[in-house]
Order: sequence, then C-alpha cells, then structure tokens
Amino acid sequence: MKHLLKMLDLSTEDITGILDLADQLKYELKHNIPHPHLKGKTLGMIFQKASTRTRVSFETGMYQLGGYPLFLSSNDLQIGRGEPVQDTARVLSRYLSGIMIRTFEQKEVEDLAEYGSIPVINGLTDFCHPCQVLADLMTIREFKGKLEGLKMCFIGDGNNMANSLIVGGLKMGMAVSIACPDDYQPPKEILDFAAQYDCFEMTNSPSQAAKGADVLITDVWASMGQEDESAKRRIAFEGYQINDDIMALANKDAMVLHCLPAHREEEITEKVFEAHAKEIFEEAENRLHAQKAVMVKLMAD
Ligand code: CP
Ligand code: NVA
Repeated sequence: MKHLLKMLDLSTEDITGILDLADQLKYELKHNIPHPHLKGKTLGMIFQKASTRTRVSFETGMYQLGGYPLFLSSNDLQIGRGEPVQDTARVLSRYLSGIMIRTFEQKEVEDLAEYGSIPVINGLTDFCHPCQVLADLMTIREFKGKLEGLKMCFIGDGNNMANSLIVGGLKMGMAVSIACPDDYQPPKEILDFAAQYDCFEMTNSPSQAAKGADVLITDVWASMGQEDESAKRRIAFEGYQINDDIMALANKDAMVLHCLPAHREEEITEKVFEAHAKEIFEEAENRLHAQKAVMVKLMAD
C-alpha cells in the first residue's frame, strides 16, 4: 500500500491491517502509551473544501505520532491560482513526508500520487471518502465484534460516502443494501464492482433496504459543491430518511452511523440521531485512530 486514494485500491488484508493498528493506537492513546512512529515527519494537508473532523483529526493525529502537520488552504496555495497539480506534487514531494488532500475531482488526487513521490491520502473527493469509511468499519467492528456476515444499509444519495461504504463493506464480507432515488444512484464503476457480489442490493426503496439491517447509515442529501441543487434535492430525496419507521424494519439492536455534519429532519430524524449519538460520536472519534493507522502504514520508516 503506497497511497490511500480510494477503497477500490485496498485488499481485505490491507483494510484488516489498518483496523487492527487503529484499535491498537486507540488503546495506546487511552492508556497514555506514547507512539511516536512519525517522529520528524511532516504531513501537508490541502483543503479545497471545508472540514471540521478531517482537519482536526489529521492535525491532532500527526502531533500524537510525533510528526508535524501543515494546514494548506487552497485559497493560499498557488494551486488555487491555477498551478498544475503535477507541479505542486513534484514540489511538495521535496519538502514533505506525506500529503492529505480534500478536493472535488478524484483525478486531482490520483495525479498528485502519480506525479509526486510521497504517500497521498484522500481526505474526501466527490467520488469517495475512504478515511471516513475506515473509521466506520472500525466503529462497526468495535460495537458488533465483527464485520463479516452483518448487513449494512445506506439510505440517501449515491455519493462519495455510499461509494466507499459499498466497496469497504463488500470487501469486508458484509451484505450491503443501498436505497437511492433512481436518478441518484452510485456511478457505474461502483455498481460494476458491486455486481460481483451476491450480497449486494440496489433499490429505490428505503424500507426494502432496511429490512434486517445491522447497521443503518445515511449522509446529507446535498454534498459540498452541490449547494445550488439543495432545493431540487430536497424534493428528490423526500422519504430517504432514517426514522422510527425505518428503524422498526432493521434488527432490533441495529446501530446507526452518520459521517457528519448531519441535517436533522432531512436524512435523519433528531430522535434517531440522539438515540444513536453514542455510535455516531464514537465514529467521529475513530477518524483520529483510523487515520493515524493509515499514516503509520504509509509514512513510518
Ligand atoms: N465527516 C467528515 O469528513 O467531516 P468534515 O467534513 O468535518 O471533515
Ligand atoms: N457527502 C458529504 C460528506 C461530508 C463529510 C460531502 O461530500 O459533503
């Protein structure tokens, strides 16, 4: 594993290795056991979109690992004025030990990795959000004790979260059921991957997808960069909500996850959100541990 660009690039063994190390690093942090695996290393963090969790967890995580994080807003970088990503990659590779990037196009992340000579971590693109899904898988394993054989249900937009959950869930032996409006299904590349698995289901019916689920997951109806489609999407996604009726169809001990930020009463009701706050905020915490594991795997000597 040289980069973390998308879940499609990871093997089941890669994912298990990251989750095992994340559990260990979480244990060490809770028990004040130092783990300076990245002493003397630097991580550049390029943000072309807003962030709370990704920025703070990477920055804190790098510090806890003994390294130094640099927050690089695209407003201040020459990349924001049109300097090609190919040149940015070759320059930053001469200063840094690794790059985390949050941007729009997946191609930009892939180009950074291709033209640079240091590990690149995808902190979210329009196509996928692998760091979040590693934290989600870690959280499910923590609460349920396993991943294999569980049913994951995602209700909402066939977006970056849906794409990464489908791939991550299936690679880890989960049954994955996705409910999206017909016009908002995941892209062909993801559906083609999922078609290899008998335990994958794509439907436009949230009730159908939720039946017997062990984990229910949703995300905003309009992602970053889609703000001008919000009104249209509110109509298209009506009913694509995790609420009491949906919870009644899932297994009785089903857990609920949300990558956050959440829009209460849109994709999830306030009641369900608060009833499952324990899982949702553990999931947010696990961003820190999962990403530290990724950084150690990619950047430690
Ligand atoms: N879930 C997530 O990536 O949150 P941020 O947008 O706050 O980083
Ligand atoms: N789908 C959301 C996820 C935010 C973490 C977005 O891209 O805005």
